[in-house]
Amino acid sequence: MKRPFAELSGTGSYAPKRVMTNDEFSKILETSDQWIRERTGIRERRVSSKEESNACMGKAAALQVLEQNGLTPLDIDAIVYATASPDRLLPSAACDLQAILGAKNAAAFDVGAACAGFVYSLNVAEGLIASEQGERVLVVAAEKLTSIMDWTDRTTAVLFGDGAGATLVRRATGTKGVLSSYMKSDGTLAELLYRPGGGAAHPPSDDLLKDHSYYIKMAGREVFKAAVLSMADACDHALQRAGLSAGDLDLLIPHQANIRIIEATAKHAGVPMDKVYVNVDRFGNTSAASIAIALDEAVKTGRLTPGMTVMFVAFGAGFTWASMVVKW
Ligand code: ACO
Repeated sequence: MKRPFAELSGTGSYAPKRVMTNDEFSKILETSDQWIRERTGIRERRVSSKEESNACMGKAAALQVLEQNGLTPLDIDAIVYATASPDRLLPSAACDLQAILGAKNAAAFDVGAACAGFVYSLNVAEGLIASEQGERVLVVAAEKLTSIMDWTDRTTAVLFGDGAGATLVRRATGTKGVLSSYMKSDGTLAELLYRPGGGAAHPPSDDLLKDHSYYIKMAGREVFKAAVLSMADACDHALQRAGLSAGDLDLLIPHQANIRIIEATAKHAGVPMDKVYVNVDRFGNTSAASIAIALDEAVKTGRLTPGMTVMFVAFGAGFTWASMVVKW
């Protein structure tokens, strides 16, 4: 087995206080708890308050990671921040976090890979260490999707939630760490899942406000099919690159978008559902943050313990997809 170059050390997460149930959606949209549960597996999601900004949620997750590693913010060499819902468009969410964390020795930047952002960022962090940019790279994935989703559109609003997760990537010292990874994109399919307005091509205007084109738009059925195919592709590549088979995995942590996508991915990969971490029922789709939150929960509940082999697999807007096998 390949000797890992980088390892993940410590995990943290933050879930906004407010829990919103499916029944609450059925009071504001033509939907039902039964429809949402049967089609997605989601029972409830977290909705952040004004005070719970993207960067504040990221900070809460990051502080847990620093504490577990016995580090202060000044020890961090780089912050890689995965998000599709930054507090503002300029500067990056990473720089906002750097400021409120006081990590003044770090380089800080965002990774825009939507739901695959956390796995992409882990890869970037490993690359930063390889190119000797630093030894301690904080990877944070945080989303405030409820601020960029259309609350009047039942086909998307019921799916998303807010939250944050984090970990530290550092040079491996033994056999634990990243065994393989895989990243892929297909920008030709961008308009199946995107925010059409609000960027430089269609700057903010009254028309944009009226037609809701600054919110997330999704062709759900097409995205569903692409997610299943892409996550299968990503599982195959990461396992093959690690020289492992599904039977060698102790845990699979897939992006939490829809229980049916998760089940199809597990089936393709040959991983039984009792080895698959699922929290989509409690969080909905938190995009980049989803695997990071699930990872933290898996560690804190003892589902993922030292020596285990875990695979992350993600799919999101772009389209982007990615996977990673890690010896924990
Ligand atoms: N409540 C009630 N009915 C609804 C709702 C709702 N919330 N949403 C849609 N419907 C209706 C539709 O209007 C449609 O009605 P019609 O038949 O009269 O036209 C019917 O339900 C079926 O709609 P479908 O879109 O075919 O439903 P589907 O079974 O595909 O489920 C869903 C929709 C849940 C969105 C699914 O397609 C899905 O999960 N897609 C993938 C989402 C995803 O994985 N995203 C990942 C990336 S997200 C990111 O990157 C930020």
